[in-house]
Amino acid sequence: MTVDLGILVSGSGSNLQAILDAISQGRLDARVRLVISNREDAFAVERAQRAKVPTLVVSHRDYPSREAFDQALVDALFDAGVDWVVLAGFMRILTPVFMRAFRRRVLNVHPSLLPAFPGTHAIRRALEHDAKVTGCTVHWVDEGVDSGPIIAQKSVPIYEADDEVSLTERMHEAEHELYVDVLAGLASGQLRPPEGL
Ligand code: GRF
Repeated sequence: MTVDLGILVSGSGSNLQAILDAISQGRLDARVRLVISNREDAFAVERAQRAKVPTLVVSHRDYPSREAFDQALVDALFDAGVDWVVLAGFMRILTPVFMRAFRRRVLNVHPSLLPAFPGTHAIRRALEHDAKVTGCTVHWVDEGVDSGPIIAQKSVPIYEADDEVSLTERMHEAEHELYVDVLAGLASGQLRPPEGL
């Protein structure tokens, strides 16, 4: 069954690109109904436009509260016919307003093996701890920060010579593969949200 995705971004959008590529290459049975960025200058917006996917910039600065911002996101996603929300480098924490509207239908990718290194700078913190292995996690989103039930993880080795740039590059490759695999599971009906979420 073709799944209707809404993708929320704030930055470069390499995960968005991986999803768009997988769709155009027939590896993922999905439609991207809408890409929303909270930043006008996000390269992700350009990637979506190139792929002829509808985009919307909704700046959190234009709203009096986080709840009002989230309501604007929800309205746009509903209008676009989105069933599943895919967070792909979206740098805002969603409020209960959003989570109630899309309960059990929001996924995120995070650049660590959760529950290690939740929050920002996960790659840098793994290096600072001299970790030998890190990885990425795709998880269901709940109302906490990177705390929802884990769907899938992929490990990424850390080498002596690594710095944040080289490790980020290796991390992205792993994320792209993992996120597309998980979304393919959603499209095939193999993956379902957990009852308790
Ligand atoms: C990824 O590392 C993802 O895990 C994190 O934000 C980054 C987004 O990268 N949540 P991109 O914008 O998809 O290139």
